[in-house]
Amino acid sequence: MNLILFGAPGAGKGTQSALLIEKMGMTQISTGDLFRAAIKNKTELGVKAQSYMDQGQLVPDSIVIGMVEEVLKSGVKNFILDGFPRTVPQAEALDELLKKLNLSISKAIFLEVPKAELMSRLTGRRVCKNCGAVFHIVNKPSKTEGVCDNCGGQVVQRNDDKTEVVGARLDVYDQYTSPLKDYYIKAHKYVELNGNRDTEEVFSDIKKQIS
Ligand code: AP5
Ligand code: MG
Repeated sequence: MNLILFGAPGAGKGTQSALLIEKMGMTQISTGDLFRAAIKNKTELGVKAQSYMDQGQLVPDSIVIGMVEEVLKSGVKNFILDGFPRTVPQAEALDELLKKLNLSISKAIFLEVPKAELMSRLTGRRVCKNCGAVFHIVNKPSKTEGVCDNCGGQVVQRNDDKTEVVGARLDVYDQYTSPLKDYYIKAHKYVELNGNRDTEEVFSDIKKQIS
């Protein structure tokens, strides 16, 4: 089964995707992670994406769609789209792409989380520079501050999780991404879950949706 997991920045898309990989053997396609890897490797794509990301703005649709097309064409199966689509034109392009590749999406699962909670999740998030594991200074601290529990890598704050950028990301979400709710309601694929609960409780609801 292929899924879209969507929601505001900090809603828990990456956290739930990690559980879906670990416990259900699914494959995550996170456009944010793909851009961060491109930035780390200093590729042309990374250079193009970085200034948009650092300001909390969206990378232009044409760049994102081209990148996702490459991944889908590689024959990936049982996947979760995390952070894509993020605009109505991206959703339309995805529909065309899926048709062309004879693929389909079963559900678009939306994680609902109130804004005040999103702010504290984002500003408190820390990530491993090496393996990408996600922590939170209050909800899920690493055992040793600044050191990844999984690989011993350095745990840092994402550039776009600084307080001054988080506000811009949430505004961009309201303007460009929240209209996707209507898009997937009309497509009869929309499922809304309360993402403001314990991680395991949210995961248990997602599992019910895919079994
Ligand atoms: P991206 O990396 O996709 O960021 P995002 O959508 O802003 O989402 P986040 O990764 O910040 O949040 P999340 O929902 O994954 O939350 P997480 O699980 O980590 O995109 C980054 C940038 O790339 C964009 O701003 C844009 O510039 C560009 N980009 C990417 N895709 C694009 C596209 N399609 N088009 C254009 N541009 C694009 O959790 C957050 C924190 O909360 C963690 O610390 C976690 O431990 C904690 N937490 C999670 N769940 C819970 C819970 N249930 N209870 C308590 N704490 C929790
Ligand atoms: Mg994420």
